[in-house]
Amino acid sequence: MVDGKYGPDVSLNEFIRNVADYRGTKAMCHEGGCGACVVAVRAPLPPNNEVKLFSVNSCLVSVLSCHGWEVTTVEGVGNKTMGYHDIQARLAKFNGTQCGYCTPGWIMNMYSLYESKKKNLSMKEIENSFASNICRCTGYRSIADAFKSFATDIDDRLKNKLIDLEDLDFVKPCGVNCKTKCQHKCDKKDSKPDENKETDDWFVVDETNKIVVDCGSTKFYKVFDLNDIFQAMEHGEYRLIAGNTGQGVFHVSNYPSTVIDIFNVAVLKEYSMDVNLILGAGMPLTEMMELFLKISGENEEFSYLKQFYDHMDLVAHIPVRNRIGDE
Ligand code: FES
Ligand code: FES
Repeated sequence: MVDGKYGPDVSLNEFIRNVADYRGTKAMCHEGGCGACVVAVRAPLPPNNEVKLFSVNSCLVSVLSCHGWEVTTVEGVGNKTMGYHDIQARLAKFNGTQCGYCTPGWIMNMYSLYESKKKNLSMKEIENSFASNICRCTGYRSIADAFKSFATDIDDRLKNKLIDLEDLDFVKPCGVNCKTKCQHKCDKKDSKPDENKETDDWFVVDETNKIVVDCGSTKFYKVFDLNDIFQAMEHGEYRLIAGNTGQGVFHVSNYPSTVIDIFNVAVLKEYSMDVNLILGAGMPLTEMMELFLKISGENEEFSYLKQFYDHMDLVAHIPVRNRIGDE
């Protein structure tokens, strides 16, 4: 359970590994660069509170920002007790893992992508989606092949490789040697995915719905409304955080007396269009890119946005773009 004893300097990654004690999620660079720490988040997002599944670098997210999030770690996707997810099993079959340190991050990035796109992915999309992860020992070809085997336009080379691998004996978590299409039912506990869910009894929700966490020397505000930002600013020296991706560069450890999380302020995520396209400063880059693609296809006057989309595709990577705004 998260409560006021964890300040804004405690990352989601530290909480998962050291408090919840789930060690599947790894950490290495603490800069959003290696992908070892990627987890999947399901959360209602402004401006319309649509529930979305997206990946984040847990090393860059303050655990206090996770209110209302359902966080899934690699243990929740599949494990030796409940059985492995197809993504995990296929990565292993394609020899896409050696020391394994990077593997949970690859799995979680692919899982988030696969689920968020409703399993409708092309080989190109998959290949283009892994700038966030580094592997120092396996070699990327086997990892790329494993994930591209989930594509709807899988090519013959991979299809044949997949058939060959699926024909191999495969040891299930129960220890029984089965063919892939095996009917053997593991008698181990048929548990549900072990998702780490936040509980909601640690915070104070005030009359305007903002959440206030007293962390001792710092008060952490999670606000949903523009006015609440300005009210919270009146309490003294403050820091605004949105995606908190700057943490990967600046490694902030000293926080002022007031920290205000503005990631959920709906008006900062909206856009309007007349002869100009006006974007809310808090719109994550992922959403901005989707918007660019949509508008460039619908409106000839804005067709140049496709060039912007192509450029943004080279900026950072998906888990960072899911959090960082265009401010
Ligand atoms: S630890 Fe490297 S991206 Fe988070
Ligand atoms: S398997 Fe060793 S770093 Fe990727």
